[in-house]
This record gives sequence, C-alpha cells and structure tokens, in this order.
Amino acid sequence: MSETTSAGILSIGAYVPERVVTNDDLAKVVDTNDEWIFQRTGIRERRIARPDEYTSDMAIHAVRQALERADMKPTDVEYILVATASPDNTFPNTACWVQKGLEMGDIPSLDISTACAGFVYGLELAAALVNTDSYRNVLVIGAEKLSSVTNFTDRGSCILFADGAGAALVTRTRGLGTVLCSRNGARYDYDALNIAAGGSRMPASHETVEKNMHTIALKGRAVYKFAVQKFMEMSQEACKRGGISPDQIALVVPHQANVNIIESAMGRVGIGMDRVLINLDRFGNTSSASIPIALDEALHNGRIKRGDYVLLLAFGGGLSWGYNLIRW
Ligand code: UT7
Repeated sequence: MSETTSAGILSIGAYVPERVVTNDDLAKVVDTNDEWIFQRTGIRERRIARPDEYTSDMAIHAVRQALERADMKPTDVEYILVATASPDNTFPNTACWVQKGLEMGDIPSLDISTACAGFVYGLELAAALVNTDSYRNVLVIGAEKLSSVTNFTDRGSCILFADGAGAALVTRTRGLGTVLCSRNGARYDYDALNIAAGGSRMPASHETVEKNMHTIALKGRAVYKFAVQKFMEMSQEACKRGGISPDQIALVVPHQANVNIIESAMGRVGIGMDRVLINLDRFGNTSSASIPIALDEALHNGRIKRGDYVLLLAFGGGLSWGYNLIRW
C-alpha cells in the first residue's frame, strides 16, 4: 500500500466539559495538596462533566467538530469505533448512542475496551478497515466520563482522572496524516489496574457499592514502571519499523497519564520534551480520550506540519498498550 493512498487521519475534533476542578478543590475532598499532585503527576487541574452529561454526549461534540472540519455529514460515516472505559451502558454500547445522537443510520458501531490504549487500538483497526477497501470513512473516538468510575476517597488515584472526548475521521487521505505503522499488545494483569465489580465475576450488590468496587483501583508504582518501559520500547520499535531515527520524530503525542512517566521514557529514547505534547497539566488523565484531545491541540497550535512524523503512544488497563506512527 503506497503512502499516497493509505488510510490516514483527515480531521480531528475534541471536547472537554466546562467545569474546572483544581488540585486545591480536590484537597477539600481527600488528604492531598497542590504541590504533591503537581510534583508527582504534572497535573494542575482537570475537567469534570456535569451529572447529566454522559460519555456519548462528549463523543458527539467531538465528532461534530471533526466532521465540520472535514466538510462531511454524519451520514458520510460508514463505521463507528468508540474506545472507552466508562461507557454509557454495557449495551447498547456507546458507539450506538453516538450513532443515534447523530442520526448516522444503521452502520456498524463498536466499542473498544482496552482502557487508556483504546484510541491507538482504534486507529490501527480503522486504518485496516479503510486499507482493505471495506469502508471509506471510519470514525475513531476516545471518550470518557472517568469521574463516574473514580473512587473519590482514594487519594492515590482520584487526583489523576478526568473527563473528555476526542474523535478522528479516518479515510483515504492521499498522504495527509497517513498511518504508517501501528502495533498493539496486551498482557493480563488484574492487580495493576482494574474495575472489580459490575461484570459477571462480581455483579452489583450492596457490598460492591459500599466498598467502592465499581471504581478504578490501581497500583500506581507498578503501572508507572511498566509504562516507562513500554513507552521506551514502543518508541524504539516504531522508529525501526518506520525506517527513521528518534531525531526525525517531530512530535510525540503520548497518553497523558503522568508527566514524569513521559519525561523518563523520552529521556531514555533521546527525544527532548520540546518535541512532546503535554496538556495533562490542564486536562489530567482522560484515558482513551487523552491522545485525540492532545492531537487536536497540537494541530490547533500549529505544532504539526505537513510531512512531520508524529508518534502516538499509549498504555492502560489490561494491561494494554500500543502505538501509531503517522506521517502528517
Ligand atoms: O492511565 C493509566 C493509569 N495511570 C496510572 O496508573 C498512573 C501510573 N502511576 C502514577 O502516575 C503514580 O504512581 C501516582 C501518581 C499514582 C503515584 O505517585 P508515586 O510517586 O508513585 O507515589 P506513591 O504511590 O509511591 O506514594 C508516595 C507517597 C505515599 O506515602 P508514604 O507511604 O511514602 O508515606 C502515599 O501515601 O505519597 C502518598 N500519597 C499522597 N500524598 C499526597 C499518595 N497519593 C497522595 C496524594 N497526596 N494524592
């Protein structure tokens, strides 16, 4: 498949809720402070959705923007992929909610459940669907209302998570935003990161609710070490497969988990932080939405130019991980 006709990102859209929650605000709820949170994570504030604003609502805002920018209508979309760890429901899935909300017709609508790595998984799948000529226009959405699955009594995790959505329209782009190569992976690790209850293993009960078992539990240190290693390995592999050196990467857009994870991994690969998009200081960790929200910002601020190599890197619950190397 030549680069000139391969699947790529035609446009991006993003949405974050209006309400800003600062570290000082969180310090009123749990025993923490702005200095600790900022030093250990890089986060200053995050956006939290209204009680009546759901994952699919945020996704729909992001999709509308992506479609407007591509000068396309909702009915031009042929396939919807929604990456989310905080779906509206188990079923109908969140992709179906998006389909209904935008009156897109009876097109295939699929949720991807690989937590924070969902968007990079989705981009690989979308590129494959387009490259095999099965579909022309595929939407890849990362959307999260993590505040609905956050344990606000656990200071070790509640300071990280936030809400938002981003969407990418994947189509044949004649060289614009071409997905050159992707790789995704997963390895079972329950203890590192999980939501224990709500599935067949542990259906909802008074006990699961009382014990906060419908919310995210994480072993921060273990995930931290894993993430640094994976970001490093994936960056090296992507460069090798793309036939480029790390020096040639114009911008890395990593999952916005923790600035210290990102800095540590990029330092080992030899990519300076001036070539890494960071917006977690303002938006926290929005899981599968973090990469498309950051990509939107990079494009808006002119940080990506035609011909640039852009590397997307993600890791998340599962454990899962993945990258996409893109030639813009
Ligand atoms: O997107 C995928 C999910 N993301 C992740 O899983 C994130 C990966 N991990 C991390 O980002 C970091 O591990 C955290 C930010 C979660 C934690 O930072 P850390 O530097 O690994 O801290 P720690 O868990 O080792 O805790 C250090 C100390 C502990 O106190 P002691 O035992 O040393 O006295 C904690 O109790 O900091 C304490 N601590 C806090 N103190 C103030 C933990 N959370 C807080 C807090 N405020 N919010």
